Amino acid sequence: MRANIAVLPGDGIGGEVTAEGVRVLWATAEKFGHDFAFEKALVGGAAIDATGVALPDETMSLAQESDAILLGAVGGPKWDDPKSTVRPEQSLFGLRKGFMLFANLRPVKLSPMLKSASTLKEEVLDGVDLVVVRELTGGLYFGQPSKRYEVDGTRHAIDTLPYSEEEVARVQHVAFKLARQRKKKVTSVDKQNVLATSRLWREIAGEVAAQYPDVAHEDMLVDACAMHLVRRPSTFDVIVTENMFGDILTDEASMLAGSMGMLPSASLGYDNDDPNAPVKGEKNSLRVGLYEPIHGSAPKYAGQNVANPIATILSAALMLRYSFGLEAEAQAIENAVSAVLEEGYRCNDIMEPGKTLLGTQEMGEIIANKVAG
Ligand code: IPM
Ligand code: MN
Repeated sequence: MRANIAVLPGDGIGGEVTAEGVRVLWATAEKFGHDFAFEKALVGGAAIDATGVALPDETMSLAQESDAILLGAVGGPKWDDPKSTVRPEQSLFGLRKGFMLFANLRPVKLSPMLKSASTLKEEVLDGVDLVVVRELTGGLYFGQPSKRYEVDGTRHAIDTLPYSEEEVARVQHVAFKLARQRKKKVTSVDKQNVLATSRLWREIAGEVAAQYPDVAHEDMLVDACAMHLVRRPSTFDVIVTENMFGDILTDEASMLAGSMGMLPSASLGYDNDDPNAPVKGEKNSLRVGLYEPIHGSAPKYAGQNVANPIATILSAALMLRYSFGLEAEAQAIENAVSAVLEEGYRCNDIMEPGKTLLGTQEMGEIIANKVAG
């Protein structure tokens, strides 16, 4: 197949890890006879420096014309001034909201050979294979008002956590459909003992669950979920939760896979043929998927060829699976990653005695060569 892929490297280690994602996609295209065209655009702090805004129009139009987006990471101390009205992170919010990417899939699967690299006990990690479906276009990240203000000379600030029943239902559907292809269990996570939005969340979760009688469903409070994730992580299958809870829980869950440097993500909107989609048959706007590692731009490691590119390479695999329906190709990349780990190659974040330390590029190359066979 032919596909146009927008590459948005961003800041810090973003350029280095996306280069390896592209390398591996390239190798996969060669091997399986596909024609992938890559085009780069500015995003985040790099875009602010060049154009004054985090998500320039040219970047948005490139993304719009593309079949999928591969993103590195954005942000860094250079753009961290709390008083500034332009911030690198705005680019992520613009892309997520602009393409209605309401479902953020973050799979957490432990490669058995990385068990000892984790800070958790090996017996706790046996069988960890879960996916967090994080709601990505609602809640605290987008709610208004969100501002600072003063009352009688005292500093105040407010953020708002809104959810509508449609927003909750559509992401629950994604979770239940995903669970059907997996271990058939959904844990819906909320804070219903405190938050009105969470009480709505739980009510809708129950209604959607009733439409999937073949899938087991439980509700769990987010604080309890945080605890169970390190206590009995292998009992989870699909976890579905609101934007902020999902952000926090996935950083925690990444440690189950050994490191943040291992965790990919896919941000998806509606399929054109999804019966739950509000708009049918519209090209692009509801179809472009965004693929990025869950980790940040790690400015202190930038430019040193030490960052682990595996999270981005696995995100590229998710692109092949979810945007292009190329399951065999996605698995070829995932198998190549496993094989390389099996052979003892490591980046710094997952390095252990007796293993072979590789830089970002070398890790990308060895995985690409494995895909090429
Ligand atoms: C993530 C990141 C972003 C988020 C930041 C960079 C705004 O932490 O994708 O998890 O909070 O969504
Ligand atoms: Mn995060």
